[in-house]
Amino acid sequence: MIKKKLINNANKIDKYLLNYLNKQKKSFLASPMKYGVISGGKKIRSTIILDAGKLLKVSQKKLLSICAAVECIHSYSLIHDDLPCMDNDTIRRGKPTTHKKYGEATAVLAGNSLLTLAFEIIVSKKNSLNLKQKNEIIELLSNCSGHTGIAGGQELDLRFENKNKNLNQILDMQRKKTGKLFNFCIQSVAIIGNKNNKEKILLGKLGEDIGLLFQLTDDFLDIKGSKKVTGKQIKKDNKKGKATLIRLLGYEKTLRYADKLEKKILLKLKKHGKNAKDLINTLKFIKERNF
Ligand code: IPE
Ligand code: IPE
Ligand code: MG
Ligand code: MG
Ligand code: MG
Repeated sequence: MIKKKLINNANKIDKYLLNYLNKQKKSFLASPMKYGVISGGKKIRSTIILDAGKLLKVSQKKLLSICAAVECIHSYSLIHDDLPCMDNDTIRRGKPTTHKKYGEATAVLAGNSLLTLAFEIIVSKKNSLNLKQKNEIIELLSNCSGHTGIAGGQELDLRFENKNKNLNQILDMQRKKTGKLFNFCIQSVAIIGNKNNKEKILLGKLGEDIGLLFQLTDDFLDIKGSKKVTGKQIKKDNKKGKATLIRLLGYEKTLRYADKLEKKILLKLKKHGKNAKDLINTLKFIKERNF
């Protein structure tokens, strides 16, 4: 059921992105950009956005451009994450990483171009939101992507390699590198749904917690997952001395931390009644997934 929903959503967003890119002027970077963002990946962030649409009664039509923008940012972050100067990975989504296929310089530039494309998609006329909403969404997305979000978290992730970091330092790093974009996924829907400031912040925090849980499972999969199913190299975090909760607390204690986090998120979601059904199913997938 959930897998069908994921595939269905992924196809929708892939179509949107392909259509968008094909209407632009041709360039050498279009092909590595498509390689990095289309036809691959779970597009889980898009599913979270669409589930949040059901939670807050915002129509799917208003959310497709937000999904496409988020997937561009996410894929840019992965293309750069895999570079030799970062995690130095050769396989992603069951295929050679973008720099393996196109070379490092092209991968850096394709990543940069996906990052800027995200903002172009949001301001585009194809996106029917009003200017005030577009402004607020751009401010939030900038915050969640730059030095206070993904890029800042990635910097910490690299600086923390082979260092002994405490619980709060690791959580801060993981919230930035992964949680913030999930914060955006739900808070942007709250913006479109005209929620008040307090509600927007709370919904964003809820997204961030879901993102943290997502990263914890990613860290578990690096140990217990399979290369074939995840489509990426496993057992790398320990070799690289990555500062994960598992390294600090051990596998079992981290599992219990993740259980508690899931319960905390569930409790908040259940307050929304039946509108939360889809997001709750996606949350369960995020915790139990094997890819
Ligand atoms: C992997 O993200 C990197 C993390 C933030 C943990 P995903 O697991 O969402 O990667 P794809 O897009 O499905 O390949
Ligand atoms: C990546 O975390 C987080 C990003 C923001 C790109 P990881 O480095 O653990 O992601 P994988 O395991 O390579 O997908
Ligand atoms: Mg990394
Ligand atoms: Mg990595
Ligand atoms: Mg990982």
